Amino acid sequence: MVAFEHSINLKSESELAVMREAGRLTAMALAAVRAAAAPGVTTGELNEVAEALMREHGVYSPFKNYPGPTPYPGSICTSINEELVHGIPGKRKLKDGDILSVDCGVVYEGFVGDSAFTIGIGEISPLAQKLIDVTRTALELGTEKMVPGNHSGDVGYAVESYVRSHGFYCTHVYTGHGVGREMHENPMLPNYGQPGQGFLLREGMTIALEPMVLVGTQHTRVLRDQWTVVSRDGSLTAHQENTIAITKDGPVILTSL
Ligand code: MF3
Ligand code: CO
Repeated sequence: MVAFEHSINLKSESELAVMREAGRLTAMALAAVRAAAAPGVTTGELNEVAEALMREHGVYSPFKNYPGPTPYPGSICTSINEELVHGIPGKRKLKDGDILSVDCGVVYEGFVGDSAFTIGIGEISPLAQKLIDVTRTALELGTEKMVPGNHSGDVGYAVESYVRSHGFYCTHVYTGHGVGREMHENPMLPNYGQPGQGFLLREGMTIALEPMVLVGTQHTRVLRDQWTVVSRDGSLTAHQENTIAITKDGPVILTSL
């Protein structure tokens, strides 16, 4: 077996069953956060909501203390407006008109689920709503391409071409990724590419597909907290992610209720 293939962990049926449960618990934690998100609520409180749900079910977040420039301090990521990903939960209060991205992971019996959504808080602008809708549809269109025999470029192309057709941008710096016993496994799955190019999708792969979409630019920068990624032009951003199994029957979304 070539080194490239060797570095990808294909999952057995029984491992997929465990990952399905990790994914379901991830979805439950996200649902609890979604229900709690409202004007006046702090992102730190949302982090506590997720932690309480996880504690109740005897699981924990792979985000907490994740290695980086500094260990990641939260159990979820909360990214508001121009914050694309990796926003740190804290004292900031949500307000009417914000858009909030929540990224959440769970470790269950040694396997990880990883998922994210973006929602509006109160009444949001038509542009913000369009951004959220485009990002959601981009994830759906990419997901449809996640069948054995396709290539990663088919997925990335589906995502980016749709996003570009609406005048928005995908980051090329942050990507989706394999997920399993580790939150980040090989291979990386970019939100760009050319049909028929990239790695071959095979039965048993489990991959987090996560379109990260920006209104005005593809460029990002990291804030002084060393984690929060923002659009370089300050424009609105959105993020939508599922952990997906590639099976002979097609893509199976593991991070659903
Ligand atoms: N879940 C994120 C991803 O999709 C990673 C979170 S970064 C962490 O890759 F530091 F918060 F863990
Ligand atoms: Co991810």
